[in-house]
This record gives sequence, structure tokens and C-alpha cells, in this order.
Amino acid sequence: MKETAWKSPSNIALVKYWGKYDVQIPANPSISFTLSEAATTTRLIYKQGTGNITIYLDGEKTPSFLPKIQGFLERSKEFFPFTGKMDFEIHTSNSFPHSSGIASSASGMSALALCMMSVKKDLGLPINNFMEEASNAARLGSGSGSRSLFGPLAAWGEHAEIDGSSNEFAVAFSDVDPIFNSFQDTILLVDKGEKTVSSTVGHGLMNGHPYAATRFEQAHKNQSALLTSLLEGDLDTFGAIVESEALTLHGMMMTSMPYFMLMKPNTLEVLNKIWAYREETKHPVYFTLDAGANVHVLYPKSHKDVIISFIDSELRTFCKDDSYLCDEVGQGPVQL
Ligand code: PMV
Repeated sequence: MKETAWKSPSNIALVKYWGKYDVQIPANPSISFTLSEAATTTRLIYKQGTGNITIYLDGEKTPSFLPKIQGFLERSKEFFPFTGKMDFEIHTSNSFPHSSGIASSASGMSALALCMMSVKKDLGLPINNFMEEASNAARLGSGSGSRSLFGPLAAWGEHAEIDGSSNEFAVAFSDVDPIFNSFQDTILLVDKGEKTVSSTVGHGLMNGHPYAATRFEQAHKNQSALLTSLLEGDLDTFGAIVESEALTLHGMMMTSMPYFMLMKPNTLEVLNKIWAYREETKHPVYFTLDAGANVHVLYPKSHKDVIISFIDSELRTFCKDDSYLCDEVGQGPVQL
């Protein structure tokens, strides 16, 4: 019996991936901040066997995760052809509360892909580029998970201005003004419930969406403009693109057929408060949204104290149980 363990972070997209085709090929390029605190730790115990898998979440046997893991191993067979001839015990835990409404698929799938890569290495199978292959495999479990492999930022999907960018794996992106290397992401937990519509269903609704072609084109342009703002440290442009991307993502949901909405009334309260505060104080504070009701408040580290006081006095009241999580840009996974 042998074991390997990795801790892999979550990430928050600045230009959003929404829409895919074939096997997890993104309809448009995306780029994200890799996070530091929100992470999954996975320990994989393996031995020769017959493909038995047991999975534990926080020490408790969790068979409900099995179909997702089996689906991932099936899809990633080209990378891990040995899985049917081994038994695996997967011990996983998240640094963030299970019921926080924060998706664990990006961090979870990237941590598992890394563990499988370590097994592959241990078996002496050929590996060209460990992290690139891990990102490619993680993509097959969770598209956005492909970006968790690299910090401080990661870009996934072919884009004319990013050398080496690919639809099959993410690449590290560090060509940024230093202000972005320590950007803060305070996650306001507006709603902790399960999402009413999964990302998988949401991506699917981009097929035949009346605005899809324009949206995919816009994402390329937004990514170009965002890259310039990242390089130049142009916070105004950065904020305008990031906020527009968040609202566009939710706009796509609201204009799908069937249509749906993941924002809650308190999400809108928070966005309006952020706009009013920024207008009044001129502080560089912006928001983005995931596929859910929670709000990610983004700002430079230099403004941490003042923005946390703003959050405590004006935004916290819109969070479930007054709760939020403090995170910041991170450097990617670590082997334990
Ligand atoms: O990786 P998935 O299939 O859970 O999709 C993620 C989609 C968004 O989080 C909404 C955007 C993104 O690029 O992360």
C-alpha cells in the first residue's frame, strides 16, 4: 500500500467560462485568480487491485461522491490507464465549510488529478509535463478545475494573446502588475444552499442560446482588454471588465431557455452598496460572481483594513449568519 497527497486551491474567474462542446472543450477563453485559502486536501492510498474505490469526506465514508469520481476516471483513462488494475482509498477535505455554497469541484478535481499524476509517476509511466497533464486531466472532471493548477493567475482556452494557451489545459499567467499578486478576495456568503441549477446544465443551455456567438466573441475581447489592464495595473479597466463579465454570466442564465436566476435579492443589495461606496470613496473595490448568489469582493491588499471595515459595517448584514471568508491570490497546489 502506498500513498500520495496534494492540496489544491479553488479559483475565481475574471473572464468567465460558460458554454462548452465535445469533451469539456470551452466555448471561450477564461482567466482566473488562483486562491490561497479555499482549497481541497486529498490523500490517495493505492495498491494493486481490481478498480475498487472508497471515498471519505472529512473522515466519513461518502459513497455519494462515487459516480462523479468514476466518471472522472473513465474520462481520464488516456492519462491514467492503470485505474482498473488498482484499488483506491480517497480521503478528501475542504478548507471551507461544506455548506458554504462554495463549489469544491475545481479544487477537488485538481487535487485528485494531481494525486493520480503522482501515482502515474510512481508507476514509472511516461509523463511529458506533469502540471500540464494534471491540468488536462482536471479539466475532464471540472472545466474550471484546469485553472487551479497554476498561480497567481491561470488562463484556459485558446486566446490569440496568450502564448501556449490551449483548450485542453490551462497555463500560468504571471505577466501582471505586482498589485495583482496579492489581490484580496473576500467571499460574502449570501446564500449557502445548493444551487438550483448546476453548472453542467447551465453550460448546456449555451447550446442554441440566442446570444451565444456574440458572448463568445465578447469573451475574447474582454480577455484582451483585461490582459492589458493586468499588465498596466489599470484598476479602473480591470474592475469594469470583471464586473461586466460577472453580470454577463448571470445575464446569459437569465436569457437561457429555460431561463433561471442564481442571484438573490441580497446579491443585488451588495452590488449596489459596492457601487455606491466606490463612487463615494474612490477606493478600488470591485465584485465578481460565480455561478451562485455569493459575492466575491476584490481589492488590493493595501486597502484591506478599510474594505474589511466597509464589509463589516455595510455588507455583512446581507450574508447568511453574517458570514464571509477572507481569501487572496495564491500560488497554486502543493504536494504534501
Ligand atoms: O467548471 P464548471 O463546469 O463548474 O464551470 C464553472 C463556470 C463558472 O464558475 C461560472 C465560470 C468559471 O470560469 O469558473
